[in-house]
Amino acid sequence: MKYGYFDDDNREYVITNPKTPYPWINYLGNEDFFSLTSNTGGGYTFYKDAKFRRLTRYRYNNVPVDDGGKYFYIKDGDTVWSPGWKPMKTELDTYECRHGMSYTKFKGAKNGVETEVLQFIPLGFWGEIQKVSVKNTSSEVKKIKLFSFIEFALWNAEDDMTNFQRNFNTGEVEVEDSVIYHKTEFKERRNHYSFYSVNQAINGFDTDRESFIGLYNGFDNPDVVNEGKSKNTIAHGWSPIASHYIEIELQPGEQKDYVFMLGYVEVDEADKWESKLVINKKPAKEMIAKFDTVEKVDAAYNELRTYWDNLLGKITIDSGEEKLDRMVNIWNQYQCMVTFNMSRSASFFESGIGRGMGFRDSNQDLIGFVHQIPERARERIVDIASTQFEDGSCYHQYQPLTKKGNAAIGGDFNDDPLWLILSTSEYIKETGDFSLLDEMVPFDNDASRAKPHFDHLKASFYHVVNNLGPHKLPLIGRADWNDCLNLNCFSNDPNESFQTTGNKKGDTAESLMIAGLFVMYGKEYVKLCKRIGKNDEAVEAEVHVSNMIEAVKKHGWDGDWYLRAYDYYGKKIGSNENEEGKIFIESQGWCSMAEIGKEEGLVEKSLNSVKEHLDCEYGIVLNSPAFTKYHIEYGEISTYPAGYKENGGIFCHNNPWIMIGETMIGRGDEAYDYYTKIAPSFLEDISELHKVEPYVYCQMIAGKEAFKPGEAKNSWLSGTASWNFYAITQYILGVKPDYDGLSINPCIPSKWDGFKMTREFRGATYNIEVFNPKHISKGVLQLIVNGEEIEGVIVPILEKGKKHSIQVIMG
Ligand code: BGC
Ligand code: NOJ
Repeated sequence: MKYGYFDDDNREYVITNPKTPYPWINYLGNEDFFSLTSNTGGGYTFYKDAKFRRLTRYRYNNVPVDDGGKYFYIKDGDTVWSPGWKPMKTELDTYECRHGMSYTKFKGAKNGVETEVLQFIPLGFWGEIQKVSVKNTSSEVKKIKLFSFIEFALWNAEDDMTNFQRNFNTGEVEVEDSVIYHKTEFKERRNHYSFYSVNQAINGFDTDRESFIGLYNGFDNPDVVNEGKSKNTIAHGWSPIASHYIEIELQPGEQKDYVFMLGYVEVDEADKWESKLVINKKPAKEMIAKFDTVEKVDAAYNELRTYWDNLLGKITIDSGEEKLDRMVNIWNQYQCMVTFNMSRSASFFESGIGRGMGFRDSNQDLIGFVHQIPERARERIVDIASTQFEDGSCYHQYQPLTKKGNAAIGGDFNDDPLWLILSTSEYIKETGDFSLLDEMVPFDNDASRAKPHFDHLKASFYHVVNNLGPHKLPLIGRADWNDCLNLNCFSNDPNESFQTTGNKKGDTAESLMIAGLFVMYGKEYVKLCKRIGKNDEAVEAEVHVSNMIEAVKKHGWDGDWYLRAYDYYGKKIGSNENEEGKIFIESQGWCSMAEIGKEEGLVEKSLNSVKEHLDCEYGIVLNSPAFTKYHIEYGEISTYPAGYKENGGIFCHNNPWIMIGETMIGRGDEAYDYYTKIAPSFLEDISELHKVEPYVYCQMIAGKEAFKPGEAKNSWLSGTASWNFYAITQYILGVKPDYDGLSINPCIPSKWDGFKMTREFRGATYNIEVFNPKHISKGVLQLIVNGEEIEGVIVPILEKGKKHSIQVIMG
């Protein structure tokens, strides 16, 4: 069953039934200021950091779901309704929610009144606009009342949800003209306030929640709206809100437009006050003036659309497969921008208070984003590397506002450092900008300990070399990519965290996943060293990589697949000898991608085993059989019910590793089959089961051993976005930036006749046509660049500012 449809021309998903199986959301904002909005107007806004600078309040995991948001109420006679359906939930004559590229449009109609709300954050602006258009489609004069509503959060979202004994006393507001200012804690340590405005005179307002809603009512039954009149309340403590009240008279056919703005202002210490206890409103007024007419709003909206045209214009495909094209051309790239911005901080499954930017997460997010805005990717790489220590270890997470490592989580996730080699090498291949390697980057955010960025890569590489276990395989630390494989935390205490309580000495448990990762990015490190003339370093590093390959072949092969790990006692994990968890996906993915033992047939055997033991109707599960009891020596992984999350769930992030592995041995049919199993646009028809948005990837789909296989959770913020984009464009379609040019070596389904891709690369446009006359999966017979045949599969760096035509004939 579907709840809407894709409008590819407008790059929108159009939801036509508000009762989606879960709230289906969108992200507004591209730089510093962000909002999440659901298809019924739920969600919240923050500046840079969803924990420390939350502007509006939201209630996670509430009953009913998705409570709190930016709401409008329309009172037309005795009928009250909301253009986004919620909170009133009055049945609408028509309802439509269009989630587009950084904007959302709601259209609701009832009894001859049509309302459209366009919600977006103009580029480079610290404010969110809601353009509200109300139209009388009846043949009579309409007199209606419009009420707006938002609820302020008291800035620190965690404190806001917990510290009520203080917070019920601190709330402060001011109201001037049509603007409601939220200034809680402004008089002491804060240099910021927020405001909610409308560009026209109002008939009333409210700022005290209890007065507006009524203590025993819900958002769907507010006293003020019922009574049809604001109370003009000023909040003192408790819960400050902002609501405007506007009386509207519309002739038949007449439309009126209103511009609402939720803004964020920072002021210098010296300029905080206009007069005693009166905040300096000048910067807010300047912001409001910028968008005080519909024309100005429309211009900013068009600018946003052009911005996305340009970003998405950098890679486009025409494959003849509609569902694939809409993933690659629109939604997958869009999601990559969102994961770049949010890391794993704020979604409808991530509360925005627990996690900031992940070291491994943000590095991986870059591989799906770097082609869009390379300058921002560069900046991010430097921010991430700045949280590293001299020995290569690093904080697992850092806060986006402070850019400082998060001490509560700490480090010792031994895969973390290696991802920096991935992001850096991908950045350089995309841009050719080797100067990044010379940039002075601090260790532990301490400028006095800055070293060239290259030294950070070296530290990352040697962090593995210096932390090998008894089989000369990498020690796992607290966990590797799989946060829940906690081999050094034997926990009997339900009140402690598996990730941060490492109670065993970590000098035995080893990870085959890190081994594969090390071989993959170790080779990349060697390549990079050679490029910049560090030949001695390259030779030395090569030895470590070869040693690792040998160690994997000797101690990491189980007969039909790669082992997953050695536990604290030196026992095998992910072996046929095990009763549960005989085979795991991560080591099959990484050792295959790294082509360890490919000549001896190990890669092929491993991938055949994946097909046999891990594949199912909805994707590839993480491990099989799933654990059915708690293994204290494995940690959190065995706590999840079988088939969910890291215990036998389809953890979508790692499925592309197998897709890429398949392309290493030329199996394009298999690679693409795996691709289509988890790509959201291919799942639209089973939305009822899948539950989450059909336009973005989710972290996990319940696996074959689950109670409800195919049901997904945790949409949006997952490394799945970048890895799938990377797998489809660079390995399946096979167009991959390299230091000396664009490599084109597709591995596609054999039934395809070919495909077209337009790709910007180093300032030039490459118009690529791939022909597959013999219906094979892999192999390039001829490569023709601007009419001339060239050797190999790498198209050189071509003249900037020009369009170039490239034909690839497979055979
Ligand atoms: C795990 C969580 C864990 C988190 C940490 C998730 O995938 O399932 O339990 O806390 O990763 O990053
Ligand atoms: C989610 C985390 O954000 C990511 O870093 C980790 O790799 C996966 N969970 C797998 O555990």
